[in-house]
Amino acid sequence: MRIVLLGAPGSGKGTQAARLKAELGIAHISTGDLLRAAVKAGTPLGLKARSVMDAGQLVSDDIVLGLLEERLAQPDTRDGFILDGYPRNLAQANALDGLLARLGQPLDAVLKLNVPDADILRRTELRFKAEGRADDNPDTVRKRLEVYAAQTAPVADFYSQRGLLTEIDGVGPIETIAARLLGALRAQTGAAAER
Ligand code: AP5
Repeated sequence: MRIVLLGAPGSGKGTQAARLKAELGIAHISTGDLLRAAVKAGTPLGLKARSVMDAGQLVSDDIVLGLLEERLAQPDTRDGFILDGYPRNLAQANALDGLLARLGQPLDAVLKLNVPDADILRRTELRFKAEGRADDNPDTVRKRLEVYAAQTAPVADFYSQRGLLTEIDGVGPIETIAARLLGALRAQTGAAAER
């Protein structure tokens, strides 16, 4: 099963993708995690990406597509994957279409977590205090939300027009949201989500 998980910064994509990975036995691919690993390793790409991420902006499409292509070449993605944080604009959505067509691996479902900005600000502030992730400071989160509204929100329409999108209420206990996502997957793809 191949799934895209959409949602604003802090909407719970990473939390829920980890659960879907365990439930469905498929790979979890987070472009944010791939970029943070490059930053931590101090690679040339990581050095380039760091200031962009710290400013709450999007890293260039070419860099992120390169990372994604490398990740999709790894064998654990053969049985399927959950994409978390990609695509983030219409150019990336079109690039992903082309890449998956070349690989003969079309998407099965796109799930979008809906969470009000007030909850997002609360969640990311808590994480900022607990973990000190640089782009979780409240000013940068506001910038990330602006970038999301301007660039990422249109990606939902792109998939809605293809009949792939289901919107999910992303507020509530983590287990409840996980059950909503699995229910939506069952409805969208039938038996594939029964595992
Ligand atoms: P990325 O890492 O993708 O960050 P993001 O999309 O902004 O999302 P987050 O990781 O903040 O949140 P999430 O939705 O995964 O929620 P989470 O489960 O963590 O990207 C970071 C940066 O990298 C971007 O700004 C950009 O610069 C760059 N980048 C990445 N991909 C890119 C791309 N494709 N193109 C260009 N640039 C790219 O939850 C958040 C918090 O809430 C956690 O503390 C969690 O414990 C808590 N939480 C989760 N669920 C609940 C719940 N139900 N109730 C209460 N708290 C909850």
